[in-house]
Amino acid sequence: MKILFVASEGLPFSKTGGLADVVEALPKALVGMGQEVAVVLPRYRGTKASAVVLPSLTIPMGDCLRFPAVADGTAIGGVHYYFVDDPEYFDRDQLYAAQGKDYPDNAERFAEFSRAAIEVAKHVWPPDVIHCHDWQSALVPVLLRTLYASDPLLRGVPVVFTIHNMGYHGLFPRDILKRLGLPDTLFHTDAMEFYGKVNFLKAALVFADYLTTVSRKYAEEIQTAEYGHGLDGVVRWRADRLKGILNGVDYSAWSPEVDTFIAARYRASDLAGKRVCKKDLLEQFKLPADAAALARPLIGIVSRFADQKGFDLIAQVAGELLAEDLTIVALGAGEPKHEHVFRELAATFPTQIAVKIAYDNAIAHKIEAGADMFLMPSRYEPCGLNQIYSLRYGTVPVVRATGGLDDTIEPFDSTNGRGTGFKFETYSGQALLGCIREALRVYADEKAWRKVQTNGMVKDFSWQASASEYVRLYETAQESRNQRAAGTSN
Ligand code: ADP
Ligand code: GLC
Repeated sequence: MKILFVASEGLPFSKTGGLADVVEALPKALVGMGQEVAVVLPRYRGTKASAVVLPSLTIPMGDCLRFPAVADGTAIGGVHYYFVDDPEYFDRDQLYAAQGKDYPDNAERFAEFSRAAIEVAKHVWPPDVIHCHDWQSALVPVLLRTLYASDPLLRGVPVVFTIHNMGYHGLFPRDILKRLGLPDTLFHTDAMEFYGKVNFLKAALVFADYLTTVSRKYAEEIQTAEYGHGLDGVVRWRADRLKGILNGVDYSAWSPEVDTFIAARYRASDLAGKRVCKKDLLEQFKLPADAAALARPLIGIVSRFADQKGFDLIAQVAGELLAEDLTIVALGAGEPKHEHVFRELAATFPTQIAVKIAYDNAIAHKIEAGADMFLMPSRYEPCGLNQIYSLRYGTVPVVRATGGLDDTIEPFDSTNGRGTGFKFETYSGQALLGCIREALRVYADEKAWRKVQTNGMVKDFSWQASASEYVRLYETAQESRNQRAAGTSN
């Protein structure tokens, strides 16, 4: 089967979060299973292309036309890459925002990207199924089922849409439809309208043939008012077309046995190298790294600094938390208010907490390897990748029981030695503190700690099983689209 991925970021070319990991690893896994996969991405600054495939597309934009090119990124590991190339839109410092503010023309940028991706499907790489991700590619299903509905090349091609995060809608004022050259008929509650505005994510939920999200638990959660971000009604309406498929891990990139970013490699049967990594990590963060510091539990954080990630809980109980005998290293960047909290804490407790405000892949790997615990107190978490990486590194996850965090981490039970981490339910600083204290108690018992570490290290979250689930879904989507295309409805 030929599967065309359309996404706004993907490694090894561009990344702001876990979407990029998925857009690299899932195609690779699908190719490994004998499928053919191509990925369409924007050509951001620094993305190298090997050839021009289509020198000038004609893309309507309000009263004007734009002429992006399609560039060929060649194949990596059997996955073919194509880039939508429009320097005015994509050759910028960042992917979506500058100084914490979204680019004002994001609707235009990703509308052009989505239209260009459809042209790739028509003229460059005709697929059997199109797989879109998040609001930036949401116009693909919208256009296919409206303006392109009678296109003989595309009518029979199903669209699967994956929700990686319900918190990002792509919400714009009503006049955006005109500015994008989209018909006003789309301004309708059964299409793009959302409380007087135009909502890209909502439209994808309405028009895609099948919907997925990145864990089973999150698939349930987004049908509730608490986690639906105002779209829970639409999700409930489409629940028969929604499936939760857990993200996997590319262990060739995230495993202490092969990781080239870390100070020493190690494995479940011999953790000596992990101690070397801990010393290196403390030194990297300019924290004490003597024998006493090495014995002290070290909590790692790697994250986008966004409300989603729950760091306000740390702020709530910082005094009590840092009264414990522990050290924290945090790597993150994002909203200034969260950056500020971490900076303040590091200034107040300089020997106990250190923070690096940056996006730095090498340090992210060093934290996974060198920390004893990995903290993710998320308010909501569709899947979360870092806690799954942590398991493999013997870095015990301390998480809030939500979304993929709940699906991937089993609470440690010291009476029977089962479990891989520590979880708390209530979204409160005290619940977080209680959970960390429980983890510290187990840490103090060397044998029990070794058990929880190895329980996690031997877990297998590779892509195989999830990629097979996607293939089954693509097949189902194909069958149902064929039936629809043969009939009269869209
Ligand atoms: P999300 O996609 O919501 O940010 P995930 O846990 O799915 O959360 O994925 C985050 C990915 O981004 C991981 O691969 C993580 O290592 C990486 N990451 C997040 N913040 C940083 C950072 N500041 N520096 C380096 N890598 C980061
Ligand atoms: C999103 C989610 C995260 C998920 C990632 C990849 O950014 O916040 O939980 O792991 O996408 O699916």
